[in-house]
Amino acid sequence: MHPDVKKILVSEEEIQKKCTQLGQEITEAYRNYPQPPLLVALLKGSVPFLACLISRIELDIEYDFMDVSSYNGTESMGDVRILKDLGQSIKGRDILLVEDIVDTGRTIVEVGKMLKNKGANEIKVVTLLDKPSRRVVDAKADFVGFEIPNEFVIGFGLDYNEKYRNLNYVGVLKEEVFQGE
Ligand code: IMP
Repeated sequence: MHPDVKKILVSEEEIQKKCTQLGQEITEAYRNYPQPPLLVALLKGSVPFLACLISRIELDIEYDFMDVSSYNGTESMGDVRILKDLGQSIKGRDILLVEDIVDTGRTIVEVGKMLKNKGANEIKVVTLLDKPSRRVVDAKADFVGFEIPNEFVIGFGLDYNEKYRNLNYVGVLKEEVFQGE
């Protein structure tokens, strides 16, 4: 375990198992769609989750990336801006938005609006983690890996000031790591 981590909330094994389960659910959900969905992954946090998930989806999916982060430190901000846009037209496409965590819910609501404005058809959301107790807007993911309590978490894509994204588990940092800032 990394020395800055207080406890592991979701282990590597649990994440891998969940990716298999979500991959099956997504495969079933989209099986009868005229065209497989385009996965839109939000940089940078959802990259490990996307990698874990895609090999378990038994459909001819495609994926693309967007970066809309306005996130700084330990609090999610309200203002969502596009830092990197999609590389293709999504007119008429069914989109599966891939998130690392749904916290206040603002990101998926705002990105959902942006995708609709670009002409997307149906938009669904898959998230590895969900903190329902933190919601400030009405937002709900269609596929959820793990519901977690209101704690700041890092690992498996999630960062604290850009660190800890490469851990293969989701954990909680020791208090002194925040105090040392
Ligand atoms: P929302 O817009 O408040 O739902 O926040 C979504 C984004 O905030 C996520 O994609 C993360 O980048 C970030 N975030 C929210 N909670 C955490 C956390 O506990 N650890 C790391 N990043 C977080």
